[in-house]
Amino acid sequence: MLEARDVWLTFRDGGRETHALQSVSVTLPPKGLIAIFGPSGSGKSSLLFVLSGLRRPTRGEVTLEGSPFSGRPEAERAAIRERRFGFVFQRHYLLEYLTARENARLCAALARSGSADRTDELLRRLGLEDKSGRRPSKLSGGERQRVAVARALAHGPAVIFADEPTASLDAENRSCVMRILSEEADRGPVVVATHDEAIVRDAAMTIRLRDGMVA
Ligand SMILES: Nc1ncnc2c1ncn2[C@@H]1O[C@H](COP(=O)(O)OP(=O)(O)OP(=O)(O)O)[C@@H](O)[C@H]1O
Ligand SMILES: [Mg+2]
Repeated sequence: MLEARDVWLTFRDGGRETHALQSVSVTLPPKGLIAIFGPSGSGKSSLLFVLSGLRRPTRGEVTLEGSPFSGRPEAERAAIRERRFGFVFQRHYLLEYLTARENARLCAALARSGSADRTDELLRRLGLEDKSGRRPSKLSGGERQRVAVARALAHGPAVIFADEPTASLDAENRSCVMRILSEEADRGPVVVATHDEAIVRDAAMTIRLRDGMVA
């Protein structure tokens, strides 16, 4: 459903050019856990951002269900992201003036889909039911990250993108988050940028990057 064709992402910084991605072509399967794996600086976040329409490639294109996606105006890409994609970032980006439950409901409210019941069910599966009334500053780092996972899934997105979702978690939280993401992968693609070999072992497909190229 999502396909990158000969995608380049180049940063110009004074006179210097950095190619974060160089001629990357990938086709995502219709479902399953997809790992983007490689050393720091290899372009994992860049590929995740380009596939999800958060960044426009410098060259090449990303198509969604065979139609141009990366070339569309920002507002159109934003509307597609809002309705159809879910995001978990390495930083959780929770809003401090909302409770855990309100934060978790945010994307579903924006997308006008999902339900309060689905959010509560996700919070329960993530072991947060008794913390759902707390504000982010009253939660641990791992709890905040799990709220961010609930928020990414509450509107039932077609594709989930997660950038190192388990990097700041202990073993127990890591397996809890990965179990939920793997369950979601039964319905649609779940794209995870990661350094974690354990995620690669569970992945249906692994995109290995080195210096911005598929290795
Ligand atoms: N805004 C930017 N301006 C200039 N260079 C950038 C920018 N963002 C990323 N880069 C460069 O692009 C390359 C790929 O970066 P990217 O963030 O995609 O790597 P990564 O594989 O996600 O690394 P990490 O594992 O550390 O998160 C790196 O060399 C990085 O320095
Ligand atoms: Mg990264």
